Amino acid sequence: MITSWHNRQSCGDITEAHVNQSITLAGWVDTTRDHGQLLFIHLRDRSGTMQIVCDRNQNEGIYNQSKALRSEFVVLITGTVHMRSEHTINSDMLSGTIEVAATTITVLSKAKTPPFMVSEKSSEKMDVTVDEDTRLQYRFLDLRRSPMQHYIIGRSRMIRSLRNTLDAAQFIDIETPFLTKSTPEGARDYLVPSRTHKKAFFALPQSPQLFKQLLMMSGFERYYQVVRCFRDEDLRPNRQPEFTQLDIEASFINEADIRNLTHSLLAAAFDSNGIAIPNAFPCMTFDDAMNRYGSDAPDTRFGLTFTDLTAHFTPCNYGIFTTIIESGGVIKGFALPQLADHISKNALQNDLAKTVIQACGGKGLTWIKVRPDNQFESNVAQFFTTEQLLASRDALNAKPGDIMLLVADTSLDTVNTVLGKLRLHLANRFNLIPKGVFSGCWVIDFPLFEETDAGLASRHHPFTQPAEAIHEDMSPSQLLAIKARAYDIVINGQEIGGGSIRIHDPQQQALIFKCLRLSDADIDQKFGFFINALAYGTPPHGGLALGLDRLASIILDAPSIRDVIAFPKNRVAFCPLTKAPSTVDQHQLNELHITHIDDPLL
Ligand code: AMO
Repeated sequence: MITSWHNRQSCGDITEAHVNQSITLAGWVDTTRDHGQLLFIHLRDRSGTMQIVCDRNQNEGIYNQSKALRSEFVVLITGTVHMRSEHTINSDMLSGTIEVAATTITVLSKAKTPPFMVSEKSSEKMDVTVDEDTRLQYRFLDLRRSPMQHYIIGRSRMIRSLRNTLDAAQFIDIETPFLTKSTPEGARDYLVPSRTHKKAFFALPQSPQLFKQLLMMSGFERYYQVVRCFRDEDLRPNRQPEFTQLDIEASFINEADIRNLTHSLLAAAFDSNGIAIPNAFPCMTFDDAMNRYGSDAPDTRFGLTFTDLTAHFTPCNYGIFTTIIESGGVIKGFALPQLADHISKNALQNDLAKTVIQACGGKGLTWIKVRPDNQFESNVAQFFTTEQLLASRDALNAKPGDIMLLVADTSLDTVNTVLGKLRLHLANRFNLIPKGVFSGCWVIDFPLFEETDAGLASRHHPFTQPAEAIHEDMSPSQLLAIKARAYDIVINGQEIGGGSIRIHDPQQQALIFKCLRLSDADIDQKFGFFINALAYGTPPHGGLALGLDRLASIILDAPSIRDVIAFPKNRVAFCPLTKAPSTVDQHQLNELHITHIDDPLL
């Protein structure tokens, strides 16, 4: 048996330069093919695959031994590197011109038949052919597949490039606690009961927000951390209950500095996987993003931006529009290019204007086709004058062959969000999103507050500095108009990071809490330690956090953020591998002072 592994070489390192040399490889049997006289093994390790040949005429013992091999056995193989004969060259394989004639094969470990094929050959369509929970239950096998190795190794490369960039810019990597107090990022907390403090709970951090601000107060000036964050929120495709942020904070810094730093980080991250991106991304105000794209995370890879047509239809003979305009509503729309001949009247009327628009949260959709002869076709064309149709066509910059799509509602927000969803639906459905393009923008000038069922809330978090003066006696509508010194970075329609310049003045912080209607007792209980620290000499500071799972999935073109996380939770926040969360022994609960867990009334 082997006592030293130093002679082992990697499949991916063997080239034609090794021909006639004796080498030792170790890895997994990817596939075997028995041709009667010749048995081929595809041996796989982290670096790639190598064809091993066992020739019955040359070495009957090896041939017979190789017949017992099965996929996923771990083997140690020694052999001699040969050029392949002309007709067996495989141009799809990196090592496709060579093969190794085996002289010894040692089975290091046998394997049960896997629940799905791990082989490179089966990998391509796995995400559609194998149920995701099965992949997650056997994640250790799923991760053996080459696309998954590509994602996990690419993620590691990306994180290394981010760390290198921050280290070079004198940022200090500092860890902050996981067992902590609730941090206000807007989701529910994951709670951890304390054994030693009866009836008390730690909260897992939704982000290290307060600690990184405390580190600025401690004088570290530049901090970063690749850190896990925990949020118990409704899952969406690009969300995980635990996810990783690159969390950054710096003192004596403004928005432009943070944007520049972020651009150098993004450039390094994309470059780590061979992609060049522009030096900077443009800024777009929140209002612009909502008005033109219907989203605060606009996908700028394609057009279909909205134009307000209300003035063109005031007045008009179309009852729905008139009623909406009279109630102070708006009519907005966009031109869908060159699809007039591809989407039938029936599809527009029954699918888009009914099913799709309802799924987008709208009540109705007006469609008008612009014919090649510049005539208009619509079920409601008769209600509009030729001037109105021509003016709308010009305002939307619609060309012959386009379809004008209009949404009207009494609420501008509704019109924007409905059009925003429709825009994405159509872009995906009709393949209007260019492939291999990375289009980013900063969204700035966010409102500081937003209205929720529970009253006024911070749109980001309550430590964000207002961009304008705030007074205690401002009305809720005045407060809702105040902008924040906050910014989000969006790439391909995904928010991949966000941050702000923070409040460093204790009085201003107290004022924000007042606006949020937090009582002194509440403030003290939730953030007393932080407010106290703020009063001991706090430098002006600001920061940002990048969502690394989202960033990695964009850079590596992964179907989902779950693919770039080694051990993710499934769509219902459950781990099919470990079966977590799971019940625990009663004695553990007793120690934690948790009783009555089986109480039928609970
Ligand atoms: P924010 O809440 O915007 O900011 O989070 C920063 C980034 O983290 C990513 N992200 C997520 N990724 C996967 N799953 C989730 N559930 C999830 N939630 C957020 C997003 C997001 O842009 N403390 C502030 C940062 C700051 O102000 O410096 C914060 O956490 O890409």
